[in-house]
Order: sequence, then C-alpha cells, then structure tokens
Amino acid sequence: MQRVLITGGAGFIGSHSAEALLAQGVQVRVLDNLSSGRRDRLPADALADGRLTLLEGDVRDARAVDAAVQGCDAVLHLAAQVSVQSSVAEPVASSSHNVTGFLNVIDAVRRLQVPRLVYASSAAVYGAPASLPLDEASVPLPLSPYGLEKFINDQYAALYRTLYGVSAIGMRYFNVYGPRQDPRSSYAGVISKFADGLESGAVLRVFGDGSQTRDFVYVGDVAEANRRALASGVQGVLNVGTGRSVSLLELIEAMTEAFGRPAQVRHEAPAAGDVLHSATTPARLQQALDYRPGTSLVQGLRALAASLRGA
Ligand SMILES: NC(=O)c1ccc[n+]([C@@H]2O[C@H](COP(=O)([O-])OP(=O)(O)OC[C@H]3O[C@@H](n4cnc5c(N)ncnc54)[C@H](O)[C@@H]3O)[C@@H](O)[C@H]2O)c1
Repeated sequence: MQRVLITGGAGFIGSHSAEALLAQGVQVRVLDNLSSGRRDRLPADALADGRLTLLEGDVRDARAVDAAVQGCDAVLHLAAQVSVQSSVAEPVASSSHNVTGFLNVIDAVRRLQVPRLVYASSAAVYGAPASLPLDEASVPLPLSPYGLEKFINDQYAALYRTLYGVSAIGMRYFNVYGPRQDPRSSYAGVISKFADGLESGAVLRVFGDGSQTRDFVYVGDVAEANRRALASGVQGVLNVGTGRSVSLLELIEAMTEAFGRPAQVRHEAPAAGDVLHSATTPARLQQALDYRPGTSLVQGLRALAASLRGA
C-alpha cells in the first residue's frame, strides 16, 4: 500500500486510522465534508509536509468520490451519518449518506480498479440478538435505519465481490471509545459523556439499573485492525470487539479509578429500544488478521483521561 483514501478521515476513528497508516509510511488522502470531523484532529506535521492531504467533499457526490479515489491503492470508507436517533428521525437523509454514499465509494473502487476496500459496518446490524456472544454467523436483525443501512452495505459488498470481483471487508465495530470522541455524539458516546461528567463534576445519568452490558473497544486497537484489514485480502465481515463485555456500573467503577474522581450517579427510566446486552467474540478477527484488540479497559480509560487533561 502506498496511498490510501480514508473517507471520514477527519472523524474519531478516521483520524486514529490515518495516524496508524502514516506511522507505516503510507501516504494518506482524506475525503471529509467536515460535518462532524475537524481538520485539527489530523496530524499537523503530516498535513504540512504533504504525507496527508485533506479534500473537503461529500461521499454523496459521485464526482468528488471518483476524484478522491483516483490514484489510491486502497480505500478505508468510514464517512457516515453515525447517529442511530437521526436515522430514526430522518431515514431518507440518513440513507443518502449511508447507502448512496457507500454505493458511490464501492462503485468508484470497481470502476477505477482499486485493489482493496475496507469499510465501517457496525454491531448495530445485529439488533437485539437472541443469543450471545455474537459471531459473524449470527443473524442480522437491525432495529434502526442506521443498522439496516450498514447491513445493506454488507450485502452490496458481497454482491460486488460476486459480480465484479471487488475485494472488500466490512468491519462491524462494537462500542469504540478513546481520545477525540465527541461527547455530543449520540453514537456509543457513553464513555465520552461519562468522561465529560467526571471531569466537570456533573451527575452521570444511567438509564435503567446499569446492568446493561457492552463490549468497549479502544480506538487505537480499531485503527490497528483497520490497517491490517487494508493490507490483507480477507473478505466478508469481521466483528471488531475485545470479547469482554462490562456492565455500565462496572464501567463507572473503572472510570472512577482511571480518572481518579468520584462519580455521582442518577438512575433514570430505561431508554426505549435500548439493547440490554451486547457481546462478541473476536475469534474470526484474530484468525483473519492475526490480531486481537489488547488494550484493557482501564488502560484505554487512562489514555482518555490523559488526553482530556492535555497530557
Ligand atoms: N464509534 C463507534 O463506536 C462506531 C461503532 C460502529 C460503527 N461505527 C462507524 O464507524 C465510522 C466512523 O465513525 P466515528 O465514530 O469515527 O464517527 P465520526 O462522526 O467521528 O466520523 C464520521 C466522519 O465522516 C464525516 N462525514 C459524515 N458524513 C459525510 C459525508 N456525507 N461525506 C463525507 N464525509 C462525511 C464526518 O465529518 C466525520 O469526520 C462510521 O461509519 C460509523 O457508522 C462507529
């Protein structure tokens, strides 16, 4: 790989993925409409010396996508409307980013004969699963337009492989956390919201009794999985999680330790449609990419606390 396009590269996962690729000597091009992404999330030195370029543009615009894809030997497609709630409120608009945008990217990959596509799918494709832990053979049953859009991406990718031989892998991220996640983002933002609350002394709002579980995976580990997926030829989908799920109450305990601050918690009514338990096994990820996310929750939370304090 010499030059990789990252759509959504000025976002949370995208900026960490850009750093992981730059560290390996890869030239990075970012296409981002800067709706939630920010130029200052990208490494200033690489922008200044040309190892990284930022194209301001939208994946809904096929011409902008073609121009960005041209000359790249791999594409990491992360740009999306990422809010489950927004997808419920405005499904047509959400689909234009997450289905039409995806189609513009994968079709440019096909026409311009780019050897490799890695794209962001999501654990949201599974909905409220009948049994846990989830693996890639678990039946998708999305509960939101967002989850359905990501599942449609997976199906398009499978069809593009059969019809045109496109080499693609969908990364079904579980709950990603770490530095630079926007606490205002409504997607998997519980850690960044709690971090904000702990730093400012605000009360942490827990919906329900706090026994709901999630697999929280550190963003640096997600960036490394993306980098390995780009360099591999693995096809289909991969669940990207740690294999360890914790409850929200356990999370708060780990956060008070990592942040060195006591937490004030208020329980509120359970949120409608909240998935109670989520867990995955990273077995296929490990077998396919020879990699398993290894950052412990406390290590990742300490890194987050340090970044918020400017260390
Ligand atoms: N964060 C998680 O826990 C998580 C979990 C599962 C899946 N994902 C997926 O991973 C990807 C990255 O998510 P993130 O958490 O980094 O979110 P993010 O909001 O930080 O990043 C998304 C980036 O895409 C850009 N963008 C949005 N719409 C665009 C458009 N139409 N054209 C061009 N750029 C556009 C935004 O400006 C932003 O920089 C998304 O596809 C998301 O659905 C994230």
